[in-house]
Amino acid sequence: MLKHITCSQLRLGMYVHALDGSWLNHGFWKNSFLLKSSADLQRLQSSGITSLWIDVARGLDVLDVAPSAPEHTPPAPVASIDEIPSEQTWHQDIEHARQQCKLAQAAVTQMFHEARMGRAIQPEQAELLAEQIQQSVERHPAAFLSVARLKSADTYTYMHSVAVSALMVALANQLGLPSQQVKRAALAGLLHDMGKAFTNPDILNKPGALTDEEFAHMKQHPQQGYELLLESINDIEVLDACLHHHERLDGKGYPHGLNAPHLHLMARMTAICDVYDAITSNRPYKSGWSPAIALQRMAQWCGPHLDGRLFSAFVKTLGVYPVGSLLRLHSGRLALVFALSENKLLTPQVVCFYDTQRQQRIDPPLLLDLSTDAQEQIVAREDPDNWHFSDLDDLWQAAITANQPALDTLTA
Ligand SMILES: [Fe+2]
Repeated sequence: MLKHITCSQLRLGMYVHALDGSWLNHGFWKNSFLLKSSADLQRLQSSGITSLWIDVARGLDVLDVAPSAPEHTPPAPVASIDEIPSEQTWHQDIEHARQQCKLAQAAVTQMFHEARMGRAIQPEQAELLAEQIQQSVERHPAAFLSVARLKSADTYTYMHSVAVSALMVALANQLGLPSQQVKRAALAGLLHDMGKAFTNPDILNKPGALTDEEFAHMKQHPQQGYELLLESINDIEVLDACLHHHERLDGKGYPHGLNAPHLHLMARMTAICDVYDAITSNRPYKSGWSPAIALQRMAQWCGPHLDGRLFSAFVKTLGVYPVGSLLRLHSGRLALVFALSENKLLTPQVVCFYDTQRQQRIDPPLLLDLSTDAQEQIVAREDPDNWHFSDLDDLWQAAITANQPALDTLTA
């Protein structure tokens, strides 16, 4: 149950559901969390936030509820902080990731707006946003990356920046880069496409292939982004990633046609994360590729286009069957990956929704954990283009809530 309280009523053990006020102003990267540390309590109370929402089902209530109880009733036991489970479920992590993505998207939208108005990027704001994305990814990579892949047509450019930033963090961590480099990777991903603020929106959102002239206009965005960032960002590797994320190892990319010896780590990483997010996202003129199919095809582009060593690390980051992948199981059922457990990347949690032998939908769809189900196993990745299911994202969203009624309605 949610309760609106003043910041002065806050105490350790409460579960903060949402903070009032702007995310960027209060500087708290987490919007919902169990308040366990005195330092966080002090920070919140001195942050300028005057009120917030707490969830009393997940943490302590305000202190003034006790006196209202009848005198003969023993006071309700106050749960110790240690008794409150800090382990979040997959569903809770997804909800948290959704909130964070929404906030990040709003902040990126504002950055693009400022750039279009001719204003320089505020480096402190961009760094804070990148840090918040980094912390969200490190809290639960699969949850954040799963949510960040969902984009609507009108928010594509902004959510793409958030998603690439998140993928960069995951890849940098997989590569074991030092924390300063992970931070840098988050910022490079976030800012890599800022030049699109200057791309004609009709071309940027064109529902179809670009003409040569339109493509030439679009290809200016790395240089334009670089020039914009040059005014306020002094990190040479971030600038380099922005300028060179469309270069290829064989020198056939743009804007400068640089080849392998001239392409640095951040630019190579950004190229991989950028391509992956672009080809797995739904666009007005084409459906995104299934994550597993995308990885399969990208593997063929290593060498001439992408860095193979970095790509191998990228695959390890996402798992062989990333969330959202369409799979064929031994039983002939088609299943969608909706969750991954750590160290069980080969046996994801799936929702089975189509029987290829009977050629009919499974009604209601069936949730399976392949790490514990001895009867079932993956036999192949499937290309969604061969099946024309239009509701895979809805199916995924219903599955992550493990909400059987929601699944029932999908096949009604
Ligand atoms: Fe780009």
